[in-house]
Amino acid sequence: MTASNNQISNTRVLVAQIPEGVAPNKSHFRTVTVTEDKPELEDGAIFVKNSVLSLDPYIKYDFSSGNEESPVAGFGLGKIVDSKNPAFPVGSTFFGPVRWESYSVLTQDQGLGESINLDAGLDKDLPLSVYNGVLGLSGFTVWDSLKRLGNLKKGETIYISSAAGTLGLLAGQLAKRQGLRVIGSAGSDEKVAYLKNELGFDAAFNYKTQDRRAALTEAAPQGLDIYYDLVFDDTVDIALDLLNPHGRIISVGTLALHQGQEPAAPKNLINILMKQLRYEGYMVYEYFDQWESFWKEVTPLVKNGEIKFAETVIEGELDIVAETYSRFLQGGYKGKVSVKIADL
Ligand SMILES: NC(=O)c1ccc[n+]([C@@H]2O[C@H](COP(=O)([O-])OP(=O)(O)OC[C@H]3O[C@@H](n4cnc5c(N)ncnc54)[C@H](OP(=O)(O)O)[C@@H]3O)[C@@H](O)[C@H]2O)c1
Repeated sequence: MTASNNQISNTRVLVAQIPEGVAPNKSHFRTVTVTEDKPELEDGAIFVKNSVLSLDPYIKYDFSSGNEESPVAGFGLGKIVDSKNPAFPVGSTFFGPVRWESYSVLTQDQGLGESINLDAGLDKDLPLSVYNGVLGLSGFTVWDSLKRLGNLKKGETIYISSAAGTLGLLAGQLAKRQGLRVIGSAGSDEKVAYLKNELGFDAAFNYKTQDRRAALTEAAPQGLDIYYDLVFDDTVDIALDLLNPHGRIISVGTLALHQGQEPAAPKNLINILMKQLRYEGYMVYEYFDQWESFWKEVTPLVKNGEIKFAETVIEGELDIVAETYSRFLQGGYKGKVSVKIADL
C-alpha cells in the first residue's frame, strides 16, 4: 500500500502493557492520534470509518496482537469511505473485524471473509447498534444455527446455557415462537426473573447458586431434546445424560473458556451411541449467504417488540473504549455492549 496526498486524523487504542494474570484496566492501554495519508488500497480492500465498536469478552485474549503498529482488534460497524471491492461499495454500511481506531483498512486476506455489507438489511427506524446484536452477527448465528442444526419440533424441550446473554436471549425467544418448552440458566436471580417474567421462558435457574443437574431434571420432567450450548463446560455431561433419544447438542459458544475455566471433556459420550444423539458444532462464517432471509424474518419481530433484546451503548471518543472495556469485563453493563465513537 502506498500513501496518497489526502490525509486523515486517526486515533488508535494500543496495548501499553499486556495484563499478566489480572483483568485489563485503563492502565494497560494507551491512545494515540496520528495524522496520516489516506491509504491507497490494493484490489479487494476497503477503508472503513468506524462508528460503533463491539465489546466482547474474547478481545482480552487477543491483546498480544495489539502493539504500537497494531491497535486492539475487535468487531465494529462503520461506513465504507474507500473501496476496491465491488461487494463493499463506498457509502455502504459495514460490519466486520475492525480495530479500535477511527479508520480501518480490511483486505481480502485480513477480515473481509468475516464481514457483512449491511445495506440489504438496514432499517433506518432502528438504531445502528442493533446490527451489533440482535440483527447482527449474534442474531444471525442463533437464527441460522437453530434452523440448520436444531430440527426444532413443537412440544420439544430446549435448554439454553447463558440464556440471558446476547445469543441466549434470542435462542429462547425463537424456540418459544416455535412452540418448544424453553429452559434457560443465568448467573443471577435478577436475570432468572427476567427470563421467566419478561421473555416467557417456561423455566429458568441460577447456575451459580443451584445444582445444575437437579435444577434441569426438575425443569425438564420429560427430558431434554436440545441443548443449545453457549458455554462449553461440564454442563455437556449433564445434557448428555438428560437428552432424550435422537436429542441434539448444538455447540455454539465457549464462554467458560473466556473465563479461564476447563473446557468440556465429557466422559459419558456413550450416550451419543446409545440414544442416537447428534452433537454438532456451528461456525457462522460458512453461512453468510442467508443474511437477507434472516433480516426479512427477524427485523419485523424486533421492530414490533415481539422479539426483545437488551443492549447498552456508551457514546464518546475512542479514549473511553479502554475504560469501558474494563467495566464491561466486570459485568457493569446490561445486554450487548457497544461504544459509539462517531456518527455514520
Ligand atoms: N459459533 C459461532 O459462530 C458464534 C457466533 C457468535 C458468537 N459465538 C459465541 O457465543 C457465545 C455467547 O456469545 P454472547 O454474545 O451471547 O455472549 P455475551 O452476551 O457476552 O454473554 C455474556 C454472558 O455469558 C454469561 N457467562 C459468562 N461466562 C459464563 C460461564 N462460564 N458459564 C455460564 N455463563 C457464562 C454471563 O452471564 P451470567 O450472569 O448469566 O453468567 C455473561 O454476562 C460466545 O462464546 C461467543 O464467542 C459463537
